[in-house]
Amino acid sequence: MIDIESVVKGFKTAESRWARFGPYYAMFPVDFAFEVVKKYSKEGDYILDPFAGRCSSIYAGGVLGRHSLGIEINPVGWLYGNVKLNPADKEEVVDRLFEVYGKRNYYKRAIQRMPEFYRICYCDEVLKFLLSARKNLDWKNSNVDATLMSIVLVYLHAKIGEGLSNQMRMTKSMGMNYSVEWWKENGLVNPPELNPAEVILNKIEWRYKKGMPKVTESAVVFGDSTIELEKIVDRSIHNDIKFSLLFTSPPYYSITDYHADQWLRLWMLGGSETPKTITEKHKGRFIDKERYYNLLDNVFGLSSKMMEEKSTIYVRTDKRKFTFDTTVEILNKHYPNHKMRIVNKPLKEDTRTQTKLYGDKTMKPGEVDIIMRN
Ligand SMILES: C[S@@+](CC[C@H](N)C(=O)[O-])C[C@H]1O[C@@H](n2cnc3c(N)ncnc32)[C@H](O)[C@@H]1O
Repeated sequence: MIDIESVVKGFKTAESRWARFGPYYAMFPVDFAFEVVKKYSKEGDYILDPFAGRCSSIYAGGVLGRHSLGIEINPVGWLYGNVKLNPADKEEVVDRLFEVYGKRNYYKRAIQRMPEFYRICYCDEVLKFLLSARKNLDWKNSNVDATLMSIVLVYLHAKIGEGLSNQMRMTKSMGMNYSVEWWKENGLVNPPELNPAEVILNKIEWRYKKGMPKVTESAVVFGDSTIELEKIVDRSIHNDIKFSLLFTSPPYYSITDYHADQWLRLWMLGGSETPKTITEKHKGRFIDKERYYNLLDNVFGLSSKMMEEKSTIYVRTDKRKFTFDTTVEILNKHYPNHKMRIVNKPLKEDTRTQTKLYGDKTMKPGEVDIIMRN
């Protein structure tokens, strides 16, 4: 029997060391994810999260003996989730680190042409290493490379001394011009001189110190839920699988741009060198009311085809009117026999609240939990 207290507090077990893996914007507090899974499902049940983010719901499910399935469109969130459910063997990750580090000098000339932002953010040794990792790690297809890449992503930007960068926020990548100006104003134009292999090796040692988490077979799919769920519905019907808990937090209307907020980590994964709002469907800010409605309608509608009759639907969302009203309407439409309970989450002076981070200007009246049971 897993001791939940030891997972959600401290870092004494493998499960707790991997639980918080991956800084992400608007993430579930780990203890909240574990509490919901424990309260609304039992061992052996199936749990679904079609907007999985860094996959705390899926991880909590797996650690607590449930089969969990997540879907996430942002490669940063997907990678964190995928790796924490199944990290590669430590020695192989360390060998790969030194292989990639060994190739850094091929990038001596390439760093000279990088925008000023990168030259102030990282010392030359780090920047050469990052270019080598970006070019050589096959994170989509190799579990070892995915594990190393995700550890690099975690520490790609952080407070000075805690990662590979000059002073930066950890959860969200700041804009290029904003950062350059801020470093200049604060006398931080020289990035810290670091040996990236040493920094990452220490991080690997710490993460694996208590071993690997024991997780019941669970998975996270990289893709768009509106497309992936169609295939999952077919497979669940074919295999006669029903989910007993739908536990998720959809994107909030007009608030967050999950791709732009992670632009520097997305650059590491092969994306653009400068921050850009991605115009592809479901990858930018959700500012079109009809599209937002259709996204939720589609995802909650498809999910409902796989839920047990006696299931629980647990949705954490934004209190603002359009997001809240739309979510309630759509959930009632797809779960007409479930009873709905609304639990307001007062905004606490507490950084654990999903969006209340670092005095963000997009401040928020808080969040709300919509719980439906039959
Ligand atoms: C509020 S966040 C979820 C955060 C998550 N609960 C956590 O703890 O990290 C919403 C997530 O939905 C993802 N998303 C938005 N549209 C999607 C889609 N069509 N398919 C899959 N994921 C999507 C976003 O990339 C974002 O990570």
